[in-house]
Amino acid sequence: MTSQTITAAASGTFDLGDLTVNRVGFGTMRLPQHGVAFAADAVPRDRGQAMGVLRRAVELGVNHIDTAAFYFSPLRSANELINRALAPYPDDLVITTKVGPGRDPSGQWLPHATPEQLRGQVEENLRQLGRDHLDVVNLRIVGTDSIAERFGALAELREAGLIRHLGLSNVRPHHLAEAQAIAPVVCVQNMFGIGASPEQKEFLHTCGEQRIAFVPFYSIAGTGRDGGATSDDKSQVHTIARAHGVSTAQIRLAWTLHQGPHVLAIPGTGDPDHLAQNVAAGVLRLSQDELTVLDSLDHETA
Ligand SMILES: NC(=O)c1ccc[n+]([C@@H]2O[C@H](COP(=O)([O-])OP(=O)(O)OC[C@H]3O[C@@H](n4cnc5c(N)ncnc54)[C@H](OP(=O)(O)O)[C@@H]3O)[C@@H](O)[C@H]2O)c1
Repeated sequence: MTSQTITAAASGTFDLGDLTVNRVGFGTMRLPQHGVAFAADAVPRDRGQAMGVLRRAVELGVNHIDTAAFYFSPLRSANELINRALAPYPDDLVITTKVGPGRDPSGQWLPHATPEQLRGQVEENLRQLGRDHLDVVNLRIVGTDSIAERFGALAELREAGLIRHLGLSNVRPHHLAEAQAIAPVVCVQNMFGIGASPEQKEFLHTCGEQRIAFVPFYSIAGTGRDGGATSDDKSQVHTIARAHGVSTAQIRLAWTLHQGPHVLAIPGTGDPDHLAQNVAAGVLRLSQDELTVLDSLDHETA
């Protein structure tokens, strides 16, 4: 596979409201540091390397970048890196950010933000990214409580023109219904990958039926979560990767993209070679037999 020449446009497109993005995008959680995200003793990534990966992503056709003000290490901030590397921003670039439980300046996680604090987080993202509006803002939640008050606060900011479109992250189906009664939802960003549960798969399909983008995270990292990719892919994933002459990470990404045309990938990496491979995964075509094998890998075996 000649991954260097494949661009994100080859993965096809999907609409986030009135914004069209290529299906393979980029997640910035890995950029501020090496190793485990959010670790107190994280080693900051070289600024030039991080900015180089962002610029290369755009050169490769990536026009959907996922970020958050709480993606920072002791010396680097994902939003600041995006601003420094990419501003003035290309017209077609869609930057999706998240608000919800934030981190204090020392990096400690805070409880759920109040509606007033959510407004502050939106303003913080605007300042850091150097924009006068945010393309897409996901309300990221922890737990199963009602989101009406928090989502309502973001809906007001959307009405005021500070936010173009709203999404949700880490949510269950009842949250989606609750939010939709308040304002349109253009995307759901949840953990999803090989080994997803039947409930996770059903939610993904529900989003597709409503033409809501489903944006999986940890599709490569899997059970490694914020620690990053593990090397314990099952033999079936290795076998399929070998047959295509690609890596298991690329098979993991390709499998998510095969779950529906509304699935948008946002793989995270600080490695330019991995970036090119992830973009190239957008053109991998898995056979029905391969999909059946990968579909059958459950939580324990994935
Ligand atoms: N809403 C939420 O709650 C939430 C939670 C987590 C993440 N996110 C978003 O989702 C994005 C994706 O999540 P993620 O970055 O944690 O996980 P991921 O994309 O599933 O995996 C990233 C890990 O895989 C490695 N990797 C990436 N491409 C690879 C390749 N081609 N070959 C081998 N290894 C590869 C990376 O290491 P290298 O740097 O060495 O490539 C890193 O360890 C994040 O960047 C963030 O924007 C959202």
